[in-house]
Amino acid sequence: MHSPAKVNLSLRVVGKRDDGYHELDTVFQEIDWSDYMEFEESGSFSLEVVGADLPTDNRNLVARAASELSRVSGRPLRGRIRLLKSLPIQGGVGGGSSNAATTLIGLNHLWGLDWTLEKLIPIAASLGADCPFFLFGGLARGRSRGDLISPMPGSLRGTLLVLVPDFGVETASVFADFDLRLTEVEKNVIFKPLVWTEEGADYPQVFPRNDLENIVFQRFPVLREYRDLLLQTGAPVSLLSGSGSTLFGIYNSESEALDAARLLSQRMDFRVKVCRPVARDR
Ligand code: C5P
Repeated sequence: MHSPAKVNLSLRVVGKRDDGYHELDTVFQEIDWSDYMEFEESGSFSLEVVGADLPTDNRNLVARAASELSRVSGRPLRGRIRLLKSLPIQGGVGGGSSNAATTLIGLNHLWGLDWTLEKLIPIAASLGADCPFFLFGGLARGRSRGDLISPMPGSLRGTLLVLVPDFGVETASVFADFDLRLTEVEKNVIFKPLVWTEEGADYPQVFPRNDLENIVFQRFPVLREYRDLLLQTGAPVSLLSGSGSTLFGIYNSESEALDAARLLSQRMDFRVKVCRPVARDR
C-alpha cells in the first residue's frame, strides 16, 4: 500500500488550547509521493524498516498504531509489516503520521475488522494531530488540532516542486516558540487565492500562507533563501509545509515545474522532486 505525503496549502494558527496544543485551520493536499508499506499474516508482530534508520519499537508510530488498534479492538497484536521509506523524516510532509494511518487501514483489513474510517479516527487522532487526514487523503480542511477533518472533492490545480533540505525540523519546538500576537500584525497581507480543479465547487477561499514560517525562517534563515529560490524559478506561490523543513513551489504547468527541477537539481544542500496534487472520490 502507498503511504502518501501531504503539503499544507495554508496553515493558520488561530489559538492556543489548554492541553498545550494549538488551534489550527489548515488545508491539507495529498501529493503523489509515498512510502510503501506491506502487511502480511504472521503469528507474531514484527516491523521492518527499509531505507531509513528508524526505531522499530514503540518509538515508531507504526508500532504504536498497531498496539493501539490491538488494544481498542481486542484483537491479538499480529502481522508482519515492512515499511519502505522514501519520504523525509521531520520534513513537514507528514511521513510518520501517514505511516501510522496506513497501518490502521492495513491492519483493519488484515485482521478482518472492517471498521469504517470514522471508527478509526479517534485512534489516529491519539497518535498525532496530522494522522486523521491520512485516513481520507486528497484535499481536506483540518480544524481543532488539525485532526478535525472535512474532506473536500477535487484538488489544487498546478504542479508542485517539493524541496527537501538536508536537515529536519522538530515540530514541537516550533510550536513552543509560537507567539499568537506576532501573527496578528501580518493579518492585512494580501495573498493570491489558490486555484482548484473543480470549478465552482464550494471551497473556502484559500490563501497560501503558513503562520509557522516566521519562526522557522528565523531559526533557519537558509529556508527563506530556498523559498525565494522557488519563487525565482517561476513559482507564483512558495510555502513551507507544516513546520518544515520541506518547502514547495506551485507552478502553473508541469513543464515549468520540470524546468525548475532541472535548474535546482544541481544543488547539494537540498533535493527536489516534482509532485502532483492527488484528488480522491468523496
Ligand atoms: O500531534 P503531534 O505529535 O504530531 O504534534 C507534535 C507537537 O506539535 C505536539 O506535541 C505539540 O507540541 C505541537 N502541536 C501543537 N498544535 C497542533 C499540533 C501540534 O502545538 N495543533
